[in-house]
Amino acid sequence: MNLILLGPPGAGKGTQAQYLIERYGIPQISTGDMLRAAVKAGTPMGVKAKECMASGALVPDEVVIGIVKDRLQEPDCGKGFILDGFPRTVAQADALQGCLDQLGRGLDGVIALQVDEDALVERLTGRRSCPACGLGYHIKFDPPTVADTCRCGTGLVQRDDDREETIRKRLQVYREQTMPLIEYYQQAESLIVVDGMLEIETVRDDIQAALQAG
Ligand code: AP5
Ligand code: MG
Ligand code: ZN
Repeated sequence: MNLILLGPPGAGKGTQAQYLIERYGIPQISTGDMLRAAVKAGTPMGVKAKECMASGALVPDEVVIGIVKDRLQEPDCGKGFILDGFPRTVAQADALQGCLDQLGRGLDGVIALQVDEDALVERLTGRRSCPACGLGYHIKFDPPTVADTCRCGTGLVQRDDDREETIRKRLQVYREQTMPLIEYYQQAESLIVVDGMLEIETVRDDIQAALQAG
């Protein structure tokens, strides 16, 4: 199963990827997570990406395209993959197509999660995540059993770019640079539009039903 999760910041890409990993036994490829790891480790790529990410802008296409191309060729992608947060520009979508053609693989679905902007801001300001295992939570919509603590026992943290001003910038970048991909994949006839405003489990079930039907 070769999938793309497309949607604005806070739409639930990471949340839904967790279910798809379990369901299909395929890895999540989140460019955001990979870039955050590079920033934390202080690698040359991380140093380059840090400022863009902190301001809510996109990291240059050639950087992310390079990461994804390498990642797709790792053995655990043999059964499939879930791209989360990539592609985000038409140039990235074209590069992905070239890469998949080369590997002799296609896409089984591009899941577009649709969520209103006010809801996105509420989701992102209330998001918390685990720095150890990466699990995500929401203080209101998906709270941890023990306050501020992951089920693995680690204290939860807030992402640096989840401040309201940066969130607004990320939403603007999404509208300008990523929204055109909805049309792009509609034309390629691989688009699956999902109402991401519904409850987390309902969205999960709707995605699975759509993938089974396809
Ligand atoms: P990235 O990490 O990809 O962030 P993003 O796209 O802004 O998306 P988020 O991770 O914020 O949201 P999500 O959709 O995963 O939502 P989640 O499931 O967590 O990118 C970060 C930065 O890296 C970019 O700004 C850019 O600088 C750079 N970057 C990354 N990829 C790049 C690329 N390809 N090209 C260039 N630059 C790139 O859910 C959010 C919250 O809502 C959680 O708290 C969750 O519990 C809650 N929630 C989820 N679903 C629901 C629901 N149905 N109802 C209620 N609450 C819900
Ligand atoms: Mg995410
Ligand atoms: Zn954890």
